[in-house]
Amino acid sequence: MADALSSAKAVHAMLNGQSEDTRDRPVQPNGPRIPLPDLEPPRADLVATLVQRRSAAKFADRPLDMAALSALLRFALGVQRFVQAQGVDKHPLGMAPSAGGLLCLRAYLLVRQADGVPPGIYRYESVSHQLIEIGPGDPTAGLTEVFLQPEFATNAPVTIALTARLDVAFTQYPLRHYRTLHVDAGVAVQNLYTVGTALGLACCAIAAFDDRALGSLLCLPDSEIATMLFSVGQKP
Ligand SMILES: Cc1cc2nc3c(=O)[nH]c(=O)nc-3n(C[C@H](O)[C@H](O)[C@H](O)COP(=O)(O)O)c2cc1C
Repeated sequence: MADALSSAKAVHAMLNGQSEDTRDRPVQPNGPRIPLPDLEPPRADLVATLVQRRSAAKFADRPLDMAALSALLRFALGVQRFVQAQGVDKHPLGMAPSAGGLLCLRAYLLVRQADGVPPGIYRYESVSHQLIEIGPGDPTAGLTEVFLQPEFATNAPVTIALTARLDVAFTQYPLRHYRTLHVDAGVAVQNLYTVGTALGLACCAIAAFDDRALGSLLCLPDSEIATMLFSVGQKP
């Protein structure tokens, strides 16, 4: 596992044209938690939703509402069911399928404007359907260093960052699984687009970001890499 982990980190750094990140790593976040409300799923025809889906460059200059945020996370990235697996009775499987059902994917929220969620950086805890605070305060300045198209930093009320846990992946699979982690992220992105469109939100997947700046802003542990960003807000 240790060999695969260090090889994957080296490959990742090389692909980004950046040296490996060796900053001090944080402990598990223990900030305040924000429970998200339980909601009915959006009622929308699947194929009509796929036909309507677009990538948005513009977002309304108002907060993302709590019901929309909660439903987006719950139905795109939340838990679908529990199964006996991985040595436990209740292993959570997601609304988005993942290779081997592993829990490699994590979602972080960089909140500029959202009802009921103060500006700050949060991690989504899918089993409890809660946000756990990583750090308080408006992330706009940090996001301008992250996005290669800085308008997304100042226009999108909420940015979702999808990350992959290399430690979880390489405990079970060989180095080749580095590729599958990105497929997992793509599946999750499509879920976000589909559920976001069904909820009437403006959404855009973003691959153009600076890995090191994002890792630093999210305080990612050494064994976790950023895979995709997803900007979301109300439609203008
Ligand atoms: C993996 C992926 C990465 C993307 N990265 C970016 C990006 O960095 N910046 C951007 O403006 N749009 C990005 N997009 C949005 C695409 O440009 C958009 O999906 C494409 O132009 C088709 O338009 P549509 O989504 O409205 O059908 C990305 C989409 C995907 C699926």
